[in-house]
Amino acid sequence: MSAAHDIAVRTQGVDISFGSGETKVTALQQTEFTARRGELIMLVGPSGCGKTTLLSVIAGTLTPQAGTVEVFGQRLDKMNQEQLTAFRRKHLGFVFQSFNLIPTLSVVENVMVPLLIQGVGHAEARRRSLIILEKVGLKGREDGKPNALSGGQQQRVAIARALVHEPPLLICDEPTSALDKDTGAQIMEMVRELSRSPDRCVVVVTHDFRIFRFADRIAEMEDGRISRVVDDPSTIESQHHG
Ligand SMILES: Nc1ncnc2c1ncn2[C@@H]1O[C@H](COP(=O)(O)OP(=O)(O)OP(=O)(O)O)[C@@H](O)[C@H]1O
Ligand SMILES: [Mg+2]
Repeated sequence: MSAAHDIAVRTQGVDISFGSGETKVTALQQTEFTARRGELIMLVGPSGCGKTTLLSVIAGTLTPQAGTVEVFGQRLDKMNQEQLTAFRRKHLGFVFQSFNLIPTLSVVENVMVPLLIQGVGHAEARRRSLIILEKVGLKGREDGKPNALSGGQQQRVAIARALVHEPPLLICDEPTSALDKDTGAQIMEMVRELSRSPDRCVVVVTHDFRIFRFADRIAEMEDGRISRVVDDPSTIESQHHG
């Protein structure tokens, strides 16, 4: 067990279901999940087991029907919408499974959004966004529109946007799904570096066993619950390599 002061994220007894009656789907069932300060934890499990739903709960975009959600000592389940919005702006970076780039903005403008929302000036926001775009290998593509980019390039824009304001809680849903092995490893190096502070935490959902080695721990999910937590991820990767 982690001591309370080591904990970055904790859900207890969280229930989420969608719909009602015959069409009711239970996505999370009394879900207990803990992420520590300064760690990069991965969440793995079969399609439909509730991974994205759990990410939405700890990001404060879905409110559970039961249970508690604590992020850096703050109870999200007790916040109203206004408080949740303020919380997300200050604390959260989110790389969506579907990228969610804004098509009418240029690449660099997409990355600037979280900084502008935080009140950073336009010139400074652009300067910082160009630096991170170069880090993710997109120098020269800044002023084009996202839909002119390949899937992997769009994914890197989404990652740059989530990282640019160095959020305390970074949540990534399949961040390397469209990336080759080397690009995926470079991105994960950046993401891991961000996690290395007691004021930070990174949660990554992935099916990509090639990046398991970047995890401090791996939580396995099954039917809406965490079924097992692996403390030594290298053992999982070696199983996949045979
Ligand atoms: N908005 C929604 N309305 C209805 N059902 C939903 C909704 N979101 C998720 N579900 C259902 O909840 C369950 C968990 O979905 P979730 O998206 O969390 O799975 P996942 O583990 O992220 O899967 P994948 O690996 O395919 O992304 C699924 O049965 C899904 O159909
Ligand atoms: Mg998902």
